[in-house]
Amino acid sequence: MEEKLRIYLDNAASTWPKPECVPRAVEHIIREAAANPGRSGHTLSIEAARVIAEARRQTAALFGISDPLRLVFTGNATGALNIVIQGMLGPGDHVITSAMEHNSVMRPLRAMELRGVEVSVVACSADGTLDPDDVGKAIRRQTALVVLTHASNVSGTVMPVSQVGAITSERGIPLCVDASQTAGCLPIDVGRDGIDLLAFTGHKSLYGPQGTGGLYVREGLEARISPLAMGGTGSASEREEQPLFMPDKYESGTPNTPGIAGLLAGIDFVASQGVERIREHEMTLARRLMEGLAAIEGIRVIGPRDPYHRIAVVSFTLEGVEPSEVAFRLDDEFGIMIRSGLHCAPSAHRALGTFPQGTVRASIGFFNTARDIDETIDAVASIAYNR
Ligand code: ALA
Repeated sequence: MEEKLRIYLDNAASTWPKPECVPRAVEHIIREAAANPGRSGHTLSIEAARVIAEARRQTAALFGISDPLRLVFTGNATGALNIVIQGMLGPGDHVITSAMEHNSVMRPLRAMELRGVEVSVVACSADGTLDPDDVGKAIRRQTALVVLTHASNVSGTVMPVSQVGAITSERGIPLCVDASQTAGCLPIDVGRDGIDLLAFTGHKSLYGPQGTGGLYVREGLEARISPLAMGGTGSASEREEQPLFMPDKYESGTPNTPGIAGLLAGIDFVASQGVERIREHEMTLARRLMEGLAAIEGIRVIGPRDPYHRIAVVSFTLEGVEPSEVAFRLDDEFGIMIRSGLHCAPSAHRALGTFPQGTVRASIGFFNTARDIDETIDAVASIAYNR
Protein backbone atom coordinates (compact mmCIF):
# COMPACT_ATOMS: atom_id res chain seq x y z
CA MET A 1 0.00 0.00 0.00
CA GLU A 2 1.31 3.45 -0.89
CA GLU A 3 2.21 5.43 2.22
CA LYS A 4 0.01 8.49 2.74
CA LEU A 5 1.75 11.84 2.43
CA ARG A 6 2.14 13.58 5.79
CA ILE A 7 2.61 17.33 5.78
CA TYR A 8 2.62 19.25 9.07
CA LEU A 9 1.58 22.89 8.79
CA ASP A 10 0.42 23.53 12.36
CA ASN A 11 3.65 24.98 13.71
CA ALA A 12 1.87 27.96 15.31
CA ALA A 13 0.16 25.48 17.63
CA SER A 14 3.36 23.52 18.32
CA THR A 15 6.37 22.97 16.09
CA TRP A 16 6.91 19.48 14.73
CA PRO A 17 9.17 17.72 14.12
CA LYS A 18 11.74 18.80 16.68
CA PRO A 19 15.43 18.78 15.78
CA GLU A 20 16.93 15.42 16.76
CA CYS A 21 19.04 17.05 19.52
CA VAL A 22 15.83 17.86 21.48
CA PRO A 23 14.48 14.33 22.15
CA ARG A 24 18.09 13.22 22.67
CA ALA A 25 18.64 15.85 25.39
CA VAL A 26 15.36 14.95 27.12
CA GLU A 27 16.17 11.25 27.07
CA HIS A 28 19.72 11.88 28.25
CA ILE A 29 18.72 13.90 31.29
CA ILE A 30 15.93 11.50 32.28
CA ARG A 31 18.33 8.58 32.07
CA GLU A 32 21.43 10.24 33.51
CA ALA A 33 20.68 13.31 35.64
CA ALA A 34 17.03 14.08 36.37
CA ALA A 35 17.62 14.67 40.08
CA ASN A 36 16.03 17.68 41.77
CA PRO A 37 18.02 20.79 40.77
CA GLY A 38 19.12 23.23 43.45
CA ARG A 39 17.77 21.16 46.33
CA SER A 40 20.51 18.70 47.25
CA GLY A 41 24.29 18.96 47.23
CA HIS A 42 25.05 15.70 45.41
CA THR A 43 26.45 15.20 41.94
CA LEU A 44 23.19 14.59 40.08
CA SER A 45 21.38 17.51 41.69
CA ILE A 46 24.29 19.77 40.76
CA GLU A 47 24.24 18.47 37.18
CA ALA A 48 20.49 19.13 36.87
CA ALA A 49 21.01 22.66 38.26
CA ARG A 50 23.84 23.22 35.77
CA VAL A 51 21.57 22.35 32.85
CA ILE A 52 18.92 24.78 34.08
CA ALA A 53 21.49 27.53 34.59
CA GLU A 54 22.84 26.98 31.07
CA ALA A 55 19.30 27.07 29.64
CA ARG A 56 18.69 30.33 31.49
CA ARG A 57 21.94 31.76 30.15
CA GLN A 58 21.26 30.79 26.53
CA THR A 59 17.62 31.89 26.60
CA ALA A 60 18.65 35.25 28.03
CA ALA A 61 21.33 35.65 25.35
CA LEU A 62 18.77 35.00 22.59
CA PHE A 63 16.60 37.89 23.81
CA GLY A 64 19.42 40.34 24.59
CA ILE A 65 18.92 39.99 28.37
CA SER A 66 22.24 40.76 30.05
CA ASP A 67 21.44 39.15 33.43
CA PRO A 68 20.10 35.58 33.06
CA LEU A 69 18.67 35.74 36.60
CA ARG A 70 16.00 38.14 35.25
CA LEU A 71 14.51 35.16 33.42
CA VAL A 72 11.94 32.91 35.10
CA PHE A 73 11.01 29.49 33.72
CA THR A 74 7.27 28.75 33.61
CA GLY A 75 5.14 25.94 32.19
CA ASN A 76 4.10 27.98 29.16
CA ALA A 77 3.52 31.52 27.91
CA THR A 78 0.07 31.51 29.51
CA GLY A 79 1.66 30.93 32.92
CA ALA A 80 4.05 33.83 32.32
CA LEU A 81 1.25 36.17 31.21
CA ASN A 82 -0.84 35.24 34.25
CA ILE A 83 2.03 36.08 36.60
CA VAL A 84 2.14 39.57 35.08
CA ILE A 85 -1.58 40.23 34.69
CA GLN A 86 -2.75 38.78 37.99
CA GLY A 87 0.35 39.65 39.96
CA MET A 88 0.69 43.26 38.90
CA LEU A 89 -2.77 44.73 38.46
CA GLY A 90 -5.23 45.77 41.17
CA PRO A 91 -8.47 47.73 41.61
CA GLY A 92 -8.30 51.18 40.00
CA ASP A 93 -5.51 50.19 37.57
CA HIS A 94 -5.94 50.68 33.83
CA VAL A 95 -4.41 48.34 31.27
CA ILE A 96 -4.12 48.70 27.50
CA THR A 97 -4.07 45.82 25.04
CA SER A 98 -4.80 45.26 21.35
CA ALA A 99 -7.73 43.68 19.54
CA MET A 100 -5.40 40.99 18.18
CA GLU A 101 -4.70 39.22 21.46
CA HIS A 102 -5.00 35.52 22.21
CA ASN A 103 -7.22 34.37 25.08
CA SER A 104 -4.05 33.86 27.14
CA VAL A 105 -4.13 37.66 27.47
CA MET A 106 -7.86 38.33 27.06
CA ARG A 107 -9.17 35.84 29.63
CA PRO A 108 -6.96 36.94 32.54
CA LEU A 109 -7.69 40.57 31.63
CA ARG A 110 -11.46 39.96 31.58
CA ALA A 111 -11.14 38.25 34.98
CA MET A 112 -9.24 41.27 36.30
CA GLU A 113 -12.08 43.55 35.14
CA LEU A 114 -14.25 41.79 37.72
CA ARG A 115 -11.65 42.79 40.32
CA GLY A 116 -11.85 46.49 39.44
CA VAL A 117 -9.23 46.78 36.67
CA GLU A 118 -10.18 48.87 33.62
CA VAL A 119 -9.23 47.39 30.24
CA SER A 120 -8.87 49.36 26.99
CA VAL A 121 -8.70 47.30 23.82
CA VAL A 122 -7.09 49.29 21.00
CA ALA A 123 -8.69 48.58 17.62
CA CYS A 124 -6.67 47.17 14.70
CA SER A 125 -7.24 47.44 10.94
CA ALA A 126 -8.78 44.67 8.83
CA ASP A 127 -5.36 43.04 8.31
CA GLY A 128 -4.60 43.12 12.02
CA THR A 129 -2.27 46.14 11.91
CA LEU A 130 -1.97 48.29 15.04
CA ASP A 131 -1.18 52.01 14.92
CA PRO A 132 1.28 52.64 17.80
CA ASP A 133 -0.09 56.18 18.20
CA ASP A 134 -3.46 54.68 19.18
CA VAL A 135 -1.72 53.02 22.14
CA GLY A 136 -0.25 56.40 23.10
CA LYS A 137 -3.69 58.02 22.88
CA ALA A 138 -5.21 55.36 25.17
CA ILE A 139 -2.74 56.03 28.00
CA ARG A 140 -4.24 57.57 31.16
CA ARG A 141 -2.87 58.58 34.55
CA GLN A 142 -3.96 55.17 35.95
CA THR A 143 -2.40 53.10 33.13
CA ALA A 144 -0.31 50.50 34.91
CA LEU A 145 0.52 48.16 32.02
CA VAL A 146 0.42 47.69 28.25
CA VAL A 147 0.14 44.06 27.07
CA LEU A 148 0.74 43.35 23.41
CA THR A 149 1.24 40.29 21.27
CA HIS A 150 4.41 40.39 19.15
CA ALA A 151 2.60 38.74 16.23
CA SER A 152 -0.93 37.46 15.77
CA ASN A 153 -1.43 33.70 15.87
CA VAL A 154 -4.34 34.18 13.43
CA SER A 155 -3.21 36.63 10.74
CA GLY A 156 0.54 36.55 11.31
CA THR A 157 0.54 40.35 11.59
CA VAL A 158 3.66 41.65 13.35
CA MET A 159 2.86 44.34 15.88
CA PRO A 160 4.91 47.57 16.10
CA VAL A 161 6.48 46.50 19.39
CA SER A 162 9.53 48.77 19.32
CA GLN A 163 7.43 51.84 18.42
CA VAL A 164 5.02 51.04 21.26
CA GLY A 165 8.07 50.35 23.47
CA ALA A 166 9.40 53.86 22.71
CA ILE A 167 6.06 55.36 23.80
CA THR A 168 5.69 53.27 26.97
CA SER A 169 9.33 53.80 27.99
CA GLU A 170 8.92 57.56 27.66
CA ARG A 171 5.72 57.49 29.74
CA GLY A 172 7.18 55.11 32.35
CA ILE A 173 4.58 52.38 31.76
CA PRO A 174 5.70 48.74 31.70
CA LEU A 175 5.27 46.98 28.35
CA CYS A 176 4.58 43.24 28.47
CA VAL A 177 5.04 41.43 25.14
CA ASP A 178 3.55 38.02 24.35
CA ALA A 179 6.20 36.40 22.13
CA SER A 180 4.42 33.05 21.80
CA GLN A 181 4.51 33.22 18.01
CA THR A 182 7.83 35.00 17.55
CA ALA A 183 10.44 33.75 20.02
CA GLY A 184 12.93 31.96 17.77
CA CYS A 185 11.60 33.15 14.39
CA LEU A 186 11.70 36.94 14.75
CA PRO A 187 14.62 38.80 16.35
CA ILE A 188 13.86 40.06 19.87
CA ASP A 189 16.06 42.36 21.93
CA VAL A 190 14.34 43.52 25.09
CA GLY A 191 16.55 46.62 25.43
CA ARG A 192 16.26 47.75 21.81
CA ASP A 193 12.52 47.02 21.68
CA GLY A 194 11.65 48.69 25.01
CA ILE A 195 10.23 45.45 26.42
CA ASP A 196 9.92 45.34 30.22
CA LEU A 197 8.23 41.93 30.50
CA LEU A 198 8.58 39.19 27.88
CA ALA A 199 6.39 36.08 27.97
CA PHE A 200 7.45 33.22 25.71
CA THR A 201 6.75 29.57 25.08
CA GLY A 202 9.37 26.89 24.51
CA HIS A 203 7.47 24.48 22.26
CA LYS A 204 6.90 26.66 19.19
CA SER A 205 9.77 28.38 17.36
CA LEU A 206 12.29 27.57 20.09
CA TYR A 207 11.73 23.87 19.19
CA GLY A 208 11.64 22.75 22.83
CA PRO A 209 9.16 20.36 24.43
CA GLN A 210 5.62 21.31 25.44
CA GLY A 211 5.37 22.38 29.10
CA THR A 212 8.22 24.90 28.84
CA GLY A 213 8.19 28.67 28.68
CA GLY A 214 9.30 31.70 30.60
CA LEU A 215 9.09 35.32 31.61
CA TYR A 216 11.69 38.08 31.51
CA VAL A 217 11.23 40.70 34.22
CA ARG A 218 13.10 43.99 33.90
CA GLU A 219 15.18 44.87 36.94
CA GLY A 220 13.09 46.38 39.72
CA LEU A 221 9.70 45.35 38.32
CA GLU A 222 9.59 42.25 40.53
CA ALA A 223 8.85 44.58 43.45
CA ARG A 224 5.49 45.32 41.74
CA ILE A 225 4.53 41.75 40.76
CA SER A 226 3.26 39.25 43.35
CA PRO A 227 3.97 35.59 42.62
CA LEU A 228 0.98 33.43 41.64
CA ALA A 229 2.45 30.31 43.25
CA MET A 230 4.57 30.15 46.41
CA GLY A 231 6.48 27.27 47.95
CA GLY A 232 9.83 25.55 48.06
CA THR A 233 12.62 27.05 46.00
CA GLY A 234 15.67 25.28 47.44
CA SER A 235 16.84 28.73 48.61
CA ALA A 236 16.43 30.62 51.93
CA SER A 237 14.99 27.41 53.38
CA GLU A 238 15.17 28.75 56.94
CA ARG A 239 12.36 31.20 56.12
CA GLU A 240 8.64 30.50 55.81
CA GLU A 241 8.14 33.56 53.61
CA GLN A 242 8.57 33.48 49.83
CA PRO A 243 12.00 34.77 48.72
CA LEU A 244 11.79 38.16 47.01
CA PHE A 245 14.85 37.72 44.77
CA MET A 246 14.92 36.63 41.13
CA PRO A 247 14.19 34.14 39.74
CA ASP A 248 13.16 32.27 42.93
CA LYS A 249 10.27 34.63 43.68
CA TYR A 250 8.36 33.10 40.74
CA GLU A 251 9.88 29.60 40.56
CA SER A 252 8.36 27.52 43.37
CA GLY A 253 8.23 23.74 43.23
CA THR A 254 10.34 21.24 41.33
CA PRO A 255 10.87 22.54 37.79
CA ASN A 256 10.40 20.68 34.52
CA THR A 257 14.07 19.72 34.30
CA PRO A 258 13.70 17.32 31.33
CA GLY A 259 11.63 19.93 29.49
CA ILE A 260 14.15 22.67 30.18
CA ALA A 261 16.99 20.38 29.02
CA GLY A 262 15.04 19.91 25.77
CA LEU A 263 14.45 23.64 25.54
CA LEU A 264 18.19 24.25 25.91
CA ALA A 265 18.81 21.88 22.99
CA GLY A 266 16.10 23.64 20.96
CA ILE A 267 17.62 27.06 21.65
CA ASP A 268 21.05 25.71 20.75
CA PHE A 269 19.57 24.59 17.44
CA VAL A 270 17.92 27.98 16.81
CA ALA A 271 21.15 29.81 17.68
CA SER A 272 23.18 27.56 15.38
CA GLN A 273 20.81 28.22 12.44
CA GLY A 274 20.34 31.91 13.28
CA VAL A 275 16.95 33.55 13.83
CA GLU A 276 17.32 35.69 10.66
CA ARG A 277 18.02 32.61 8.52
CA ILE A 278 15.07 30.74 10.00
CA ARG A 279 12.86 33.75 9.28
CA GLU A 280 14.09 34.01 5.71
CA HIS A 281 13.35 30.33 5.04
CA GLU A 282 9.89 30.50 6.59
CA MET A 283 8.94 33.74 4.82
CA THR A 284 10.08 32.41 1.43
CA LEU A 285 7.65 29.54 1.92
CA ALA A 286 4.93 31.82 3.29
CA ARG A 287 5.15 34.05 0.21
CA ARG A 288 4.90 30.99 -2.04
CA LEU A 289 1.86 29.77 -0.12
CA MET A 290 0.10 33.16 -0.11
CA GLU A 291 0.63 33.61 -3.85
CA GLY A 292 -0.52 30.09 -4.64
CA LEU A 293 -3.63 30.35 -2.49
CA ALA A 294 -4.55 33.83 -3.76
CA ALA A 295 -4.69 32.45 -7.32
CA ILE A 296 -7.45 29.96 -6.36
CA GLU A 297 -11.00 31.16 -6.99
CA GLY A 298 -12.95 31.73 -3.76
CA ILE A 299 -9.90 31.97 -1.50
CA ARG A 300 -9.37 35.03 0.69
CA VAL A 301 -5.95 35.24 2.32
CA ILE A 302 -6.03 37.12 5.64
CA GLY A 303 -3.42 39.54 6.98
CA PRO A 304 -0.79 41.86 5.52
CA ARG A 305 0.57 41.18 2.03
CA ASP A 306 3.96 42.64 2.88
CA PRO A 307 6.16 39.84 4.31
CA TYR A 308 8.05 42.40 6.39
CA HIS A 309 4.89 42.92 8.45
CA ARG A 310 4.07 39.29 9.08
CA ILE A 311 5.31 35.93 10.25
CA ALA A 312 4.76 32.62 8.44
CA VAL A 313 1.23 32.08 9.74
CA VAL A 314 -1.17 32.06 6.76
CA SER A 315 -4.89 32.13 7.46
CA PHE A 316 -7.45 31.90 4.68
CA THR A 317 -11.12 31.29 3.99
CA LEU A 318 -12.74 29.41 1.11
CA GLU A 319 -16.07 30.79 -0.02
CA GLY A 320 -18.93 28.38 0.58
CA VAL A 321 -16.94 25.86 2.66
CA GLU A 322 -16.61 25.88 6.46
CA PRO A 323 -12.98 26.15 7.67
CA SER A 324 -13.46 22.97 9.71
CA GLU A 325 -14.48 21.08 6.56
CA VAL A 326 -11.44 22.34 4.63
CA ALA A 327 -9.22 21.27 7.55
CA PHE A 328 -10.87 17.86 7.77
CA ARG A 329 -10.55 17.23 4.03
CA LEU A 330 -6.91 18.38 3.95
CA ASP A 331 -6.07 15.85 6.67
CA ASP A 332 -8.34 13.06 5.54
CA GLU A 333 -7.78 13.19 1.77
CA PHE A 334 -4.30 14.70 1.54
CA GLY A 335 -2.52 14.05 4.88
CA ILE A 336 -2.04 17.80 5.43
CA MET A 337 -2.35 18.91 9.06
CA ILE A 338 -3.45 22.47 9.76
CA ARG A 339 -5.69 24.17 12.37
CA SER A 340 -9.08 25.73 11.65
CA GLY A 341 -11.61 27.73 13.67
CA LEU A 342 -10.99 30.58 16.09
CA HIS A 343 -7.49 29.61 17.33
CA CYS A 344 -8.33 30.69 20.93
CA ALA A 345 -8.38 34.28 19.66
CA PRO A 346 -12.01 35.40 19.15
CA SER A 347 -11.10 39.08 19.49
CA ALA A 348 -8.56 38.80 16.67
CA HIS A 349 -11.11 37.09 14.43
CA ARG A 350 -13.61 39.88 15.16
CA ALA A 351 -10.99 42.47 14.13
CA LEU A 352 -10.22 40.54 10.94
CA GLY A 353 -13.91 40.05 10.08
CA THR A 354 -13.70 36.26 10.33
CA PHE A 355 -15.80 35.74 13.47
CA PRO A 356 -17.57 33.39 14.24
CA GLN A 357 -16.70 30.92 11.48
CA GLY A 358 -12.94 31.44 11.81
CA THR A 359 -10.30 30.59 9.24
CA VAL A 360 -8.17 27.77 7.93
CA ARG A 361 -4.63 28.37 9.21
CA ALA A 362 -1.46 26.94 7.71
CA SER A 363 1.58 27.77 9.84
CA ILE A 364 5.07 27.12 8.55
CA GLY A 365 8.13 25.90 10.47
CA PHE A 366 11.82 25.50 9.77
CA PHE A 367 11.41 21.90 8.59
CA ASN A 368 8.81 22.63 5.92
CA THR A 369 9.86 22.53 2.29
CA ALA A 370 8.72 24.08 -1.01
CA ARG A 371 7.22 20.70 -1.85
CA ASP A 372 5.02 20.84 1.27
CA ILE A 373 3.73 24.21 0.12
CA ASP A 374 3.08 23.14 -3.48
CA GLU A 375 1.23 20.00 -2.32
CA THR A 376 -0.88 22.16 0.00
CA ILE A 377 -1.75 24.65 -2.74
CA ASP A 378 -2.76 21.76 -5.04
CA ALA A 379 -4.84 20.17 -2.28
CA VAL A 380 -6.69 23.42 -1.48
CA ALA A 381 -7.29 23.97 -5.21
CA SER A 382 -8.72 20.46 -5.49
CA ILE A 383 -11.09 21.13 -2.55
CA ALA A 384 -12.06 24.50 -4.05
CA TYR A 385 -12.90 22.99 -7.44
CA ASN A 386 -14.79 20.07 -5.86
CA ARG A 387 -16.95 21.97 -3.36
N1 ALA B 1 -1.98 29.37 20.53
C1 ALA B 1 -1.73 28.20 19.74
C2 ALA B 1 -2.32 28.33 18.36
O1 ALA B 1 -2.43 29.42 17.87
C3 ALA B 1 -2.10 26.93 20.42
O2 ALA B 1 -2.68 27.33 17.75
